[in-house]
Amino acid sequence: MNEKPKNEDRFYITTPIYYVNDKPHIGHAYTTIAADVLARFYRALKKEVVFLTGTDENSQKTVEAAEKSGEEIKSYTDRLAGLWRSAWRTLNISNTDFIRTTEERHIKTVHEIWRRIEEAGDIYKGKYEGLYCQGHEAFVKDSDLVNGLCPDHQTKPDFISEENYFFRLSKYQDRLLEFYRDNPTFVVPEPRFNEVKSFVEQGLEDISISREAQKWGIPVPGGSGHVIYVWFDALINYASAIGLEEWSNHPADIHAIGKDILRFHAVIWPAMLFSAKLPLPKQLLVNGFFTVGGIKISKSLGNAIDPVELASKYGVDALRYFLLREIPYGEDGDFSSLKLEERYNADLANGLGNFAARVSTLAESTGELKKAEVDQNIETSVKETRTTFTEKLENFKFHEALTELWKLIQLGDLYLNETKPWEEKDAEKKTKIIYNLVVILDNVASLIFPIMPETAEKITQSITWVSNDSLRVKKIEQLFPRTDKD
Ligand code: MSP
Repeated sequence: MNEKPKNEDRFYITTPIYYVNDKPHIGHAYTTIAADVLARFYRALKKEVVFLTGTDENSQKTVEAAEKSGEEIKSYTDRLAGLWRSAWRTLNISNTDFIRTTEERHIKTVHEIWRRIEEAGDIYKGKYEGLYCQGHEAFVKDSDLVNGLCPDHQTKPDFISEENYFFRLSKYQDRLLEFYRDNPTFVVPEPRFNEVKSFVEQGLEDISISREAQKWGIPVPGGSGHVIYVWFDALINYASAIGLEEWSNHPADIHAIGKDILRFHAVIWPAMLFSAKLPLPKQLLVNGFFTVGGIKISKSLGNAIDPVELASKYGVDALRYFLLREIPYGEDGDFSSLKLEERYNADLANGLGNFAARVSTLAESTGELKKAEVDQNIETSVKETRTTFTEKLENFKFHEALTELWKLIQLGDLYLNETKPWEEKDAEKKTKIIYNLVVILDNVASLIFPIMPETAEKITQSITWVSNDSLRVKKIEQLFPRTDKD
């Protein structure tokens, strides 16, 4: 039996679990790809990575979507969960687990946590009267609406008047504020953390955590006929996937989420964990929103962009690169095919792809390449790029990490153009130049790996050490064929 890795050797990262009322769009892919990059990065550092994603199925949206497609709900959710799984496979997401909230392991844990919270005296029955937005699966206030409509979904919220179970969220206000003070990097980026703090400082109200009229969902224990509020159930997925014992040993290191679901993760989830006497996640990594023409991407607005289609046109790695290079992580950004096309041609086809093709062609034609001295400035640049790149990734500055790395590619291009190895008559000098170029290419490949796994592998596989001091390179076909000619 393998020995279990020590706690600090483990790294547990999660994405939100996605609603199954539709297939993934580019916004969902964005959060998931960022989490995948971190999972791959820490795996390469020899951490034992647990990377969780999944589907949030107990929502009223699921019932409506199943009805609309004329399918029985079980087969509908099975089909959709399959579709999300396969989209993530296509985008090369390396999740180690996939949780569905209709699974037994989840329902069992939800009930256990409900029981613990009840035992702590934090669940009571009360009357809820107010507005509910289906799109958000959340209670809303008049002040959240614009002309009576939810501004994100352009729908009119339902008026609900029900006997519900409530969670004593208000009891945890001080404890939360104290926790935020003690954990200054709990939410990144910082402006998002400030929003959370000021929200909590303004005072917390208890929240309704059951629905009386709804049939689809996890039943409240005790046979009252209520179902558990979908967010209360969904948040628990992070613990139910690994089990409460494991969560107690090592809770999530990072929950990667979008800014729209920050309060649930930074306020309600920690309060639930306090109440259930369980440890809190270490960090929430919050991304901004992709918009199209300035409008949030969403199914209801009909402007969703399919990441699987984009990947089939440009390649998975190009899509992964673009999403992380284009927008500083945490900020909002506008998506356009034109920008994707521009980056594809400039940074990938003419940049990395061209460099890899030129260097590998030269190196292949030289045959066995003896290890040579690396120029001082190349050695320094490689070393500095490695340090900066790693530091930037650790701090979620994906776009800056990539900018730094591309400077190294530019340096390689410049060196190639200046030294003109194809004109070099002196065999030793020529070998040295090509060796230096291979060193650059090899380092680019090893750094780019978490973001562009296939590309990195193609490059790495083309370089083979044949002995301690010599290597061979196989020509790399165009990694990114130009797309502007079709
Ligand atoms: N089911 C809840 C999450 C429960 S987690 C315990 C949910 N699901 S969702 O399908 O609506 O997807 C939410 C996540 O998808 C967002 O938080 C965000 O991470 C990502 N995005 C959805 N639209 C997005 C954009 N337009 N841009 C960037 N990310 C977006 O909420």
